[in-house]
Amino acid sequence: MADADDILERKNFYLDVPQTSNAYALKGSNALDWGMKNRLARIFSPDDCRTVMLAVDHGYFQGPTTGLERLDVTICPLIPYADALMITRGALRSTIPPEITKPVVLRSSGGQSILKELSNERVAVDIEDAVRVNASALAVQVYIGGVHEHESIGNLVEIVNAGNRHGIPTMAVTGVGKELARDAKYLGLATRICAELGANFVKTYYCEKGFAAVAAGCPVPLVIAGGKKLPEMDALRMAYLAVSEGAAGVDMGRNIFQCEAPKAMIQAVRAVVHESETPERAYDLYLSLKSAGEGSELCTAKTQLR
Ligand code: R5P
Repeated sequence: MADADDILERKNFYLDVPQTSNAYALKGSNALDWGMKNRLARIFSPDDCRTVMLAVDHGYFQGPTTGLERLDVTICPLIPYADALMITRGALRSTIPPEITKPVVLRSSGGQSILKELSNERVAVDIEDAVRVNASALAVQVYIGGVHEHESIGNLVEIVNAGNRHGIPTMAVTGVGKELARDAKYLGLATRICAELGANFVKTYYCEKGFAAVAAGCPVPLVIAGGKKLPEMDALRMAYLAVSEGAAGVDMGRNIFQCEAPKAMIQAVRAVVHESETPERAYDLYLSLKSAGEGSELCTAKTQLR
C-alpha cells in the first residue's frame, strides 16, 4: 500500500511551466475534435503533414485490376512503406492481415461498374461497419459536372455527417468524367466544393498549369492520384511538382503496384514526398533498389506488415 503522506509531498504541478497548447498543424484541421485529429495524424505524418497513401481500391468498379489480382501477394509487402492504405471493406477483410498497424482509408461509395455510367454511386458502407474495421478515414467519390453530380454530392454530405458523429474524417475523391478537362479551373471548382461541404481532405489530380492555385484555394489538404501507369520518372516528377506546389502528398495506386519493382517505387515516392528529393535522385533510388532486388516478394512474415 502506498504511503499517502509521501505521495502528497512529492506532487509537482510545475507552476512555472505553462500547459502545452499547440495548434494542430495540418492545413484547415485545427478546429477539429481530438479523435479526428488523432486519426488524421495517423495518415498525415505529424513531422511534415504529408502522406504517401497506397490506393488499392480499384476493384470496387473495375474488378481484378492489373497488379491487384492477388492483394495478399502483391500489396502486403508494400504496406510497411505506405503511410495509409486506401481499400474496400471486402478486400480488407478477405486479404489484409488484421495485424497491420497502418491506418485504413475505407472506400465508402460505390454501386457502378466500368460497364456503366461511372458517376452513378451511392453510399456503400454503414458507419458502424467502418468503425468495426477501425477505419481512420472514409473515402467517397464526388463527380462535379458528372451525370450524377447531385447524388454524389449527397453521398459526400451523408458520409461527412456520419464520420463527424464518430470522429472519423472523410476524404472526398474528385472523379472526373471523360468529357471533362482535368484543368486548374475544373479541379479548383471540384476540390473547393468538396472542402466546403465538409471533406477533411481531398484526393484529386495534378495539372501542369495552375495546380498551386488549386491547392491554395482548397482549405484542407490535397493528395494526388497517380492516374494511369506512367514511366517511373514521370510519376516521380508529377509527385514532386504536386508537393512542391502545395499538395500534402499522394494517394497513388497504379504508378506503384503496376511497376516492375513496386517496393522500390513506393520508397522512391516516399523520398519525394517526405524528404523532398528531386525526381532525378528519387529515380536513382528506384533504380538502385530495383537492382538490389526490391521487387514484389511474397508476403511471408507478420513483421513485414508493420
Ligand atoms: C478512384 O476512382 C479510386 O480511388 C482509384 O482506385 C484511385 O484513385 C486510383 O489511384 P491511381 O489513379 O493512382 O491508380
